[in-house]
This record gives sequence, C-alpha cells and structure tokens, in this order.
Amino acid sequence: MDHAKETAPVVEAKGARIPLVGLGTWDLRGRACARTVEQALRLGYRHIDTAEMYDNEREVGEGLRTSGVKRSEVFVTTKIWPSHFAPRELERAARDCLVRLRLTEVDLLLLHWPNPQIPLAETLAALAKVKHDGLARNIGVSNFTFALIEEATWASSEPLVCNQIECHPYLDQSKVIAACRRHGMAVVAYSPIARGNARNDKVLARIGAAHKKTAAQVCLRFLVQQEIVVIPRTSKVERLSENAAIFDFALSGKEMAEISALAHRNGRIVDWSFSGRPQWD
Ligand SMILES: NC(=O)c1ccc[n+]([C@@H]2O[C@H](COP(=O)([O-])OP(=O)(O)OC[C@H]3O[C@@H](n4cnc5c(N)ncnc54)[C@H](OP(=O)(O)O)[C@@H]3O)[C@@H](O)[C@H]2O)c1
Repeated sequence: MDHAKETAPVVEAKGARIPLVGLGTWDLRGRACARTVEQALRLGYRHIDTAEMYDNEREVGEGLRTSGVKRSEVFVTTKIWPSHFAPRELERAARDCLVRLRLTEVDLLLLHWPNPQIPLAETLAALAKVKHDGLARNIGVSNFTFALIEEATWASSEPLVCNQIECHPYLDQSKVIAACRRHGMAVVAYSPIARGNARNDKVLARIGAAHKKTAAQVCLRFLVQQEIVVIPRTSKVERLSENAAIFDFALSGKEMAEISALAHRNGRIVDWSFSGRPQWD
C-alpha cells in the first residue's frame, strides 16, 4: 500500500471515511511505538488506532509528526476507558488524550468497553458534546453487543459511525455485524489475525499458496472483502507491508465459505467486561 489517503480503500459510514487498513498499537510502547507508527505512515498506512488505556498516545503522536505525512491525511482513532464515562470525566479524558497526542482533534473517538454502572444515555450525551466542541470529528463505540447497539443508536443524538469488535475467522460475529449494518455503522475488526494465531492455520496457508499470499494476508483479506476495517498490529517493519498488501487479490465464494467455517464456540480471545459480568449473551 503506497498510495495516499485519497486513494487508499476506505469504508464510508455516516459521513466518516475510514481507511480499510489501520495500524493497531496495543502493546507497542516507547521509542519502538513511535518508530513503528512513523514507518507505517511512510509505507502508506493512513489509519492509526490507539487508546488512553494503551499508554502510548504520546508516542503515536510523535510517530505521526516525524513521518512527515500531513495530519489531514491520517485517520486517528483513540478510545475512552470506561472508568471515565461519567459526563465530566469523559470530557476531561478526551482533552487529556488530545494533549498526549498533541492534536487538536481526533478523527474518531470511541467508548472502549460498555460500562453498565453509568447510564449509557448520559455517556453518549457527553460523547456528543465532545464532538460538538470539535474534539472529535466522529464518535463510535467498541465491544458493544447487538443489544447495546440497538440501545446506543436509539439514545445517541449524534451518529455512531462504528463498533470496534474482536473479529477474525475463528469467531462468529454475524449477529453484531448485522446490527451494525442495520444502523449504517462500520465494523472495525480488532485482533484481526487472532493475535497472530492465523499465521499457522493450515486452511488459510493452503488458500494463500494458491494466491501467492501468506495465511495472515488471507485472514485480513477475508475481512476487508466483507467491508470490515482491519487494524492488525505488528512490531516488525516487513509485516507492516505484508499486512497492507491485501488489495491485489480476491477470494472466491468457495474460499470465503471455507474460511467462515473456521469459526468455533471457543474462538473468542479477548473476554473482559468492565462490570465483571460477561457481556456477550
Ligand atoms: N477495542 C478493543 O477493546 C481492542 C482490544 C484488542 C485490540 N484492539 C486493537 O486492535 C489491534 C490489533 O489487535 P491485537 O493487537 O489484539 O492482535 P492482532 O493484530 O490480531 O495480532 C497481533 C499479533 O500478530 C502478530 N502478527 C502481526 N502481523 C503478522 C503477520 N503478518 N504474520 C504473522 N504474525 C503477525 C504480531 O506479532 P509481531 O509484532 O511479532 O509481528 C502480534 O503478536 C490492537 O493493537 C489494538 O489497536 C482493540
């Protein structure tokens, strides 16, 4: 991927244009994080995903500046941690994110996980205010179930442009994806290569061999071919290019079905809820 934001494949949702491939930065820290962000942008990435919880917003901002890529060409997402969902806290937390990133606004601000201890409508009103105040161009949610999507879209005065969820071939997310589509929201897949597990998958490797692609590329292609945004993370420069080179081949209907069949009951990797109760039923 060595094209500018204007030509990079994007998904459109409620006025937001989200590049289909972004760099995930969870667990990237310090100099290595700044260098990886800078490299990714130089290679043509135009979408970076961070969060206040990742403790790397300063380094993400640094990588953005040293890359030399114009701010207006990069789609930057950050997320507010659920302990900051009380309205005043949320606004303060959003301002703190911008201070760390050294930006005047982010392109997308997400609620990181649901927090049943604070009324959702109050949190969404605060999120809408943050958008009105010009701190975020777009707002959305993460880790929301299909039921919470219904509740949130009904309660929010501002469009919610996406739901960022765990999404890869080993997990059937069809129910929540259908809810997002019904409401015109983009789906952003986190852990899109199943934390690296896809690299050793025999089915993905066999399909990849037929297209001269790696198992990880087939895994990512499977998602973007469904218009699902992917934000793979890597600390290795050569994998930055590999993970973005997924727009020059297409999977057949039969291959897509074969990959869908890899989903299984215990496919979820990230299972955490702020309330301590499972959120997925
Ligand atoms: N909203 C949420 O609650 C939430 C939760 C989790 C994650 N996220 C976001 O989603 C991003 C991605 O998810 P993730 O970090 O959990 O997992 P992931 O991107 O599915 O996998 C990352 C792992 O895969 C390896 N890898 C990357 N590219 C590879 C390739 N081409 N071949 C083989 N291995 C490869 C990486 O190792 P190397 O570094 O050695 O390449 C790393 O260990 C995060 O970084 C974060 O931004 C959001």
